[in-house]
Amino acid sequence: KIVILDFGSQTTQLIARRIREQRVYSEIHPYTLPLERLRAMQPKGIVLSGGPASVYDGDAPSSDPGIFALGVPILGICYGAQLMMHQLGGQIESAEKREFGKAELAIQRPDRLFAGLAPKPSRHQVWMSHGDRITAPAPGFVISATSVHSPAAALGHAEKPFFALQFHPEVAHTAIGTDILKNFIFNICGCEPSWTVQSFIETTVAAIRARVGQGKVICALSGGVDSSVTAALVHRAVGKQLTCIHVDTGLMRSGESDAVIRFFSSQSELTLVDIDASDFFLSRLRGVTSPEEKRRQIGHGFIEIFEREANKLGEVHFLAQGTLYPDVIESVTFRGKAPIKSHHNVGGLPERMRLELVEPLRDLFKDEVRLLGLELGLPKEAILRQPFPGPGLGIRIMGEITAERLAVLRLADAIVLEEIKNTGWYDKVWQSFAVLLPIRTVGVMGDSRTYEHVIALRAVDSKDAMTADWSRLPYEVLARISNRIINEVRGVNRVVYDISSKPPATIEWE
Ligand code: XMP
Repeated sequence: KIVILDFGSQTTQLIARRIREQRVYSEIHPYTLPLERLRAMQPKGIVLSGGPASVYDGDAPSSDPGIFALGVPILGICYGAQLMMHQLGGQIESAEKREFGKAELAIQRPDRLFAGLAPKPSRHQVWMSHGDRITAPAPGFVISATSVHSPAAALGHAEKPFFALQFHPEVAHTAIGTDILKNFIFNICGCEPSWTVQSFIETTVAAIRARVGQGKVICALSGGVDSSVTAALVHRAVGKQLTCIHVDTGLMRSGESDAVIRFFSSQSELTLVDIDASDFFLSRLRGVTSPEEKRRQIGHGFIEIFEREANKLGEVHFLAQGTLYPDVIESVTFRGKAPIKSHHNVGGLPERMRLELVEPLRDLFKDEVRLLGLELGLPKEAILRQPFPGPGLGIRIMGEITAERLAVLRLADAIVLEEIKNTGWYDKVWQSFAVLLPIRTVGVMGDSRTYEHVIALRAVDSKDAMTADWSRLPYEVLARISNRIINEVRGVNRVVYDISSKPPATIEWE
């Protein structure tokens, strides 16, 4: 396996993902991982990730220099490259100009990392994001590529399998990134492409068993992909030690979680507690209009109900949660930067109930989770379902949430779903849904004037929800949806289509 030491870059996870895509197992560990533990893992290669620090900062994160004596190939990326140079005796400097975004890489001499790339003159587009730069290679290193602002954009050691890249091979904008990583893991580290979803299940199940022991685990089962896959995985690991709790917040779409509930109820050795809390949430949300306050109320309300039910189960030790990688980075407060949106999960509960978290999907992206779910035998409709946010329709009604507005949105949303499915677009888009704008606009129906609400239609294409583009739905599909909503949903006389991308907009409206 390949071990990635994380120095806090936003793209560390992408490195792991790119390596997994090549069917090589990789694990991310904090840069503080003790040398002995690293040695015990017997990695075939080590990657030092990027990170926001500068090697000359007083508190600059740094890994044990002993890694260079393990006899294992090491690839440093961005900060990881600078740290490698710094620790091995090279020079780093603050560049006058930060280099951020696309840059042109000029390969100056052959290097095993660049094997198989187009021969000279070899120029390639790469993606850079750094303030510091390497100004003098450490002894034994030679510069293999340059860019305008980075005289040492890539370096390799003359004898040892050490490589330093100032750019990020893991991001899609670095077109040659996959080739570079393949050269590293296969040709340099000698890995075999043998890792599969099945082996992920085996490793993870074993890890969960080891961690949980005889303890009791609870899991909030929303019916969404993430919690379903988490529950299935944990169930496979610890069987009847797991209890799932499904809380109906009343903010679900019609009939939504039924299939998954049905599936889990049919699993032997699994206790499923099913609670209808719609009135509780409606009263909690009365008068609440701010998006973050809604999320807070829904999140806290959820915890309250969940805790009450969990307490009935006697002593519980672990909480299994379907946190995915994008949730982790979007919610993380890094160096004082505010989170973009506070994601709804069972946050706060672990401390209060003194529960330890089990988060088996923490390193995965959505599409990987789906593959995992199918492999675990979850129903296709549940797994290939579009994502649905934890706070549900609550963040798709702008302004106050009332029972009437929920009813209107549910109806409109069902029409969107039906038409998107009927026209074959459901699997082609990442998400497609309706948003209720309770402002009122004038219309005319029959001979009378109407003054009613607006439904915004949102459909986006995305690979991992980190970025998204609005879907180019055909006019005929849009027309059909609009006609049906205006004709069939009382209280709506106008439908608009959202043509904003993320960033700068987000997928959900709140
Ligand atoms: P945004 O709106 O941030 O959404 O572009 C990105 C993805 O995350 C989903 N989403 C959530 N999922 N709890 C969730 O479980 C939340 O609070 C939440 N907010 C947004 C959204 O549907 C999209 O897939």
